[in-house]
Amino acid sequence: MKNIIRVLNVLVLCFSVQVWAEYVHLTWEDDPKTTMTVNWQDSKQVEGKVKYGLEKESLEKEAAVRVEKVKDIEVLRGQMIEISNEIFKRDVKTEKGSINVYKAKLTDLKPGTKYYYLIESEGKDINSFTTAPEGKENFTFIAGGDGGGSKTTAELLKVAARFRPKFFIYAGDMVGGAAATAGSWNAAFKSFLPYSLSMPIMPTPGNHDSDDDLEFTNYQARFALPQKSGSVFNYSFDYGNCHFASTLASGTSFSDERLTKTAAWLEEDLRAADPAKFKIVFAHTPVLSSGWHAGSDKVKDLFAPIFDKYRVDLYIDGHDHGYERSKPVNFTKSAEAAQLSYKDGTCYLVSGGLGSQFRQFAGSWSTAKLIQADKNHYPPDRFYFIKIEVTEDKLNIQAIGKEGQVLDDFNIEKKN
Ligand SMILES: [Fe+2]
Ligand SMILES: [Fe+2]
Repeated sequence: MKNIIRVLNVLVLCFSVQVWAEYVHLTWEDDPKTTMTVNWQDSKQVEGKVKYGLEKESLEKEAAVRVEKVKDIEVLRGQMIEISNEIFKRDVKTEKGSINVYKAKLTDLKPGTKYYYLIESEGKDINSFTTAPEGKENFTFIAGGDGGGSKTTAELLKVAARFRPKFFIYAGDMVGGAAATAGSWNAAFKSFLPYSLSMPIMPTPGNHDSDDDLEFTNYQARFALPQKSGSVFNYSFDYGNCHFASTLASGTSFSDERLTKTAAWLEEDLRAADPAKFKIVFAHTPVLSSGWHAGSDKVKDLFAPIFDKYRVDLYIDGHDHGYERSKPVNFTKSAEAAQLSYKDGTCYLVSGGLGSQFRQFAGSWSTAKLIQADKNHYPPDRFYFIKIEVTEDKLNIQAIGKEGQVLDDFNIEKKN
């Protein structure tokens, strides 16, 4: 009898706990010291509330929830379609309907403090995060791009979690495949769990994240990000003694006008940034790379002088699958020779190593370190993430593989 009651209890529990919220992830759309935004989606279209507070047992505050819809896109494989009176076999992209995505901004938080939160529709799991510190304490963050929703990304994040990173800079192409279907977005968000429940992911859009839509409508809906610039792609935030700026430095799909506006925004943003902080810019497209997607002259001519003028310490990008660290480069001083120290030039870091197949790089005068594919071979043991330890006067940067092995290790000292 006791056993029957126990089984009945378990069944009641199973059916009463409704797990609706899916793919929960954190971002900052405002000051990391005093706010946090919880993003999630559900397929059942049940709205929830977010409760939060300092004590796990009493979540006293409640955040308003915004809801948006994103297209639920799927790809029908091998459809017979007619083009100019001829029949071709093609994959066809269709819209099945829409998915609800939700955002809740938690406000009035104290700096450097641990908070607990609960998405009420999810019903049970209380998670936590810590706000950014008031001062310039040392901290660690991670970066990387081109995971494509792969299991490799999940494996790398498991290794990265050992270092307790405060946030994750995603350099684009988190979605895999030719089309950003709902399923491929879900694969990306799944690859971030459970770490995205407590570690904000700050992305910059890659070409695979676009749904063939240059406004990146679905991407925008899925991430609440700072919008001070009036553009959905350009944003910046400060954390400790670092200033971060995301730009859309793409050379192929975007008009000259858009690139020019982006460069103007970046210049203004860096001009206004605290000169005492490290300056880290990130985007999907390389400005300097010897890979397949080597930065175009147009992009380089627009952006490099800004990096030189405002003494950007580090430019993190992806798009090229592999790893290429540049020597210190200041194009204004020399377009063909590296500087002696990162105090005198920017480090351009191609960081597309989270799981998409590696390719080969040609190497150039500016290459300091390469991790690439062998000829006709894509060794999976070379996938990596970037770990950056920030101290008052130094960035220690490492590329770390799936086994925790250190593949590259270097320092950028603070420019005077
Ligand atoms: Fe890409
Ligand atoms: Fe990619």
